Amino acid sequence: MARLIYSAATSLDGYIAGPGGDMGWLAPHVGEPNPPADRLLAGLGALLVGRRSHDGDDPNRGTDAEGAFGGRYDGPAVVLTHRPPPQAPPGVTFATDLDTAVARAREAAGDGYVTILGADVAAQCLEAGLLDEVLVFVAPVLLGDGTPLFPRRPGTAPVRLESIAEDTPHWYRVVR
Ligand SMILES: NC(=O)c1ccc[n+]([C@@H]2O[C@H](COP(=O)([O-])OP(=O)(O)OC[C@H]3O[C@@H](n4cnc5c(N)ncnc54)[C@H](OP(=O)(O)O)[C@@H]3O)[C@@H](O)[C@H]2O)c1
Repeated sequence: MARLIYSAATSLDGYIAGPGGDMGWLAPHVGEPNPPADRLLAGLGALLVGRRSHDGDDPNRGTDAEGAFGGRYDGPAVVLTHRPPPQAPPGVTFATDLDTAVARAREAAGDGYVTILGADVAAQCLEAGLLDEVLVFVAPVLLGDGTPLFPRRPGTAPVRLESIAEDTPHWYRVVR
């Protein structure tokens, strides 16, 4: 069965987007060698994307590298939204609740990974006990404000993570 992984680049102070959704801070790191990301891409079956990520800023907009994984991913994507548009772009389906979105993404991914794009959706998957892995790349920048990497509700219980890769410090299995 497909595994759900939340993968994101984060600032050192824990933001995946700057104020107003700015992603320009990531531009200096685009194209840097990233073997763990290459491995994830090779095993990737589907994306599960929050609406704000779907509509969001792209540091590679207007270039060949625009899109998920620097433009190298062209497989299926399920976008979670309360307001699906009447028509979906090719390869994209819209879902209006988390369980349906996860089920569709798993089905599309087969035995591959479902990669979650969007902190809000990732935090919901975590709280629902659906998140299997986390892969985070830390950029050497402090943003001070923006979209937190894991926007969990105050008072929620700690979640233990186990490191599962030797060549990257932040690839973890979620301990259940
Ligand atoms: N640094 C990175 O690697 C990275 C990667 C991806 C994205 N980003 C950035 O992160 C930001 C987006 O992340 P985010 O956490 O703010 O948002 P998100 O998770 O991408 O999307 C949240 C939105 O998804 C929809 N949604 C969420 N849960 C839902 C549910 N249960 N049922 C129906 N719809 C639901 C809602 O949209 P509606 O109510 O509008 O339908 C909600 O506002 C963007 O700025 C993006 O550029 C950064």
